[in-house]
Amino acid sequence: MPDKIGYMFQQETKHWRDRPGGGMVDWRKKPSPYKEYAGSEEIALPAFPIPAATVEWCIRTRRSIREYSPEPVSLAQISFMLWASTGLRERTGSYEFRTAPSAGALYPIETYLLVNNCSGLKNGIYHYSVRRHSLETVKQGDFGEMLAHASLGQSMCAEAPCVFMWSAVFGRSEWKYKDRAYRYVYLEAGHIAQNLALAAVSLGLGTCQIAAFFDDEVNKLIGLDGAEESVIYMSSVGRPA
Ligand SMILES: Cc1cc2nc3c(=O)[nH]c(=O)nc-3n(C[C@H](O)[C@H](O)[C@H](O)COP(=O)(O)O)c2cc1C
Repeated sequence: MPDKIGYMFQQETKHWRDRPGGGMVDWRKKPSPYKEYAGSEEIALPAFPIPAATVEWCIRTRRSIREYSPEPVSLAQISFMLWASTGLRERTGSYEFRTAPSAGALYPIETYLLVNNCSGLKNGIYHYSVRRHSLETVKQGDFGEMLAHASLGQSMCAEAPCVFMWSAVFGRSEWKYKDRAYRYVYLEAGHIAQNLALAAVSLGLGTCQIAAFFDDEVNKLIGLDGAEESVIYMSSVGRPA
């Protein structure tokens, strides 16, 4: 056990009363929590109606959905799910807070959307601009089968109307929390994914979490380097079959 990387990580990233902490934080070097695709085609996200479902009903109804009806997801539904999962909740002075919590409000998670069948959106891969609540086009085309192949043959990646893909920009949290940041980014992706799952249920849609994939094949599909930024979690979304 002591020579296993998981065990070592857990031990080495604990806070210990008898060991010094992570050292000084250089506030002048605080990383930006926003990634921008400058020059990309931008798609404005429409206003969305607030669903009437109760939290209790959404929690009770949520289950993993792996088979989807051929019905497309609408842009208004996507707009709501992006906002509910990780959109801006509040601006206070120069601080901007999102719908999911983040250690130190450093927001290391980026959201990408693979579109297979959404009304008002061409098939392709998009990046969610949290600040502008819009989609930035990464590339257009049919990439569902490639994602399914990269995800150990999980066909829901090609059959779901869309797949949310979350990456971690590790440096944003590492700047303050050093190696312990690696705990936080995974916890934060879980918060975002659960927000999405419940928001989808409130719209009559369903999700399935996906963590079984060849990381660097998905990174390559999105155009991430897999080192400074790497995909860590995904969720397929659509109307249950
Ligand atoms: C971290 C994590 C990773 C998962 N990865 C996959 C996956 O790659 N493929 C899949 O079909 N389900 C995946 N699931 C879904 C679980 O199989 C599912 O949540 C579990 O069977 C419980 O069922 P329920 O979600 O319907 O309550 C994952 C769930 C979690 C929390």
